[in-house]
Amino acid sequence: MTLAPLALVREGAAQLAEAGCETPQLDAEILVAHSLGTDRTGLRRMSEEPLGEANEAAARGLLARRAQREPVAQIVGYRWFRNIQVGVDSRVLTPRPETELLVEWGVGLPADARVADIGTGSGAIALALADERPDLQITASDVDSGALDVARANATRLGLEITFVQGDLLDAVDSELDALISNPPYISDSELTGLDPEVVDYEPHLALTAGPDGLETVERLVEQAALRKIPRIALEIGAGQADSTAALLAEAGWAHVEIRDDLAGIARVVIGDNSGDRI
Ligand SMILES: C[S@@+](CC[C@H](N)C(=O)[O-])C[C@H]1O[C@@H](n2cnc3c(N)ncnc32)[C@H](O)[C@@H]1O
Repeated sequence: MTLAPLALVREGAAQLAEAGCETPQLDAEILVAHSLGTDRTGLRRMSEEPLGEANEAAARGLLARRAQREPVAQIVGYRWFRNIQVGVDSRVLTPRPETELLVEWGVGLPADARVADIGTGSGAIALALADERPDLQITASDVDSGALDVARANATRLGLEITFVQGDLLDAVDSELDALISNPPYISDSELTGLDPEVVDYEPHLALTAGPDGLETVERLVEQAALRKIPRIALEIGAGQADSTAALLAEAGWAHVEIRDDLAGIARVVIGDNSGDRI
């Protein structure tokens, strides 16, 4: 006799709590629902009928992966970001809600602006911008070919037009740019080991770390953007990096510099603007 869906959720949630997962009930609901081809609302409507052996085995398989601390997004294969479903796997950073702040800035860019998303990973930022502002001319770059494969597959599935290039920061972006947007790696080498297993064991370290203070990539990117006189730049940064990044932009020649907080009240995005627009 197999369990009913909600009974398996209860059992799975206990298993995930024991494994140290932060949101065991939510995760168990998502995974059991996913294994049954439905969502959490659908799951609640399901009868108390037993699952059957094949369904129960499939759901238990997903719960076992989560108990090893594999992220839910990688198990189900996607994460919602703004209005789009972004496919993810272990080759890319799963897009975070706070990164939507960068997209909020990007949707305010002037008509037909030429924009580069540097370190595109899954393509989340570039894809959300293309979805909400089809007039923008978007180039997305990453140094990692595996990440670019994920981003290209997302663009094809979503039917969004983006030019993808592979290279170090701005090296492979030949066109003139009106704006640069980037969520670069910004974790310090020493911070990495203290992060949750979901991050350390399952996300690419290339997407995470940037030297002893976490600012190596930001510094190189600002230098390159200043040399190319890109008028508008928006960078996501880590907690505690806003003031030094703002100073970096001001020193590199951006006249108007602004810091924006995320929903948790952490200074998360630094913007530089030389266009004469109001930021
Ligand atoms: C923090 S992840 C951001 C991914 C995605 N843009 C997002 O916001 O979810 C940083 C990305 O930068 C890429 N990256 C790291 N170093 C790079 C470099 N020197 N040049 C270009 N891309 C780089 C990584 O491969 C990774 O995909």
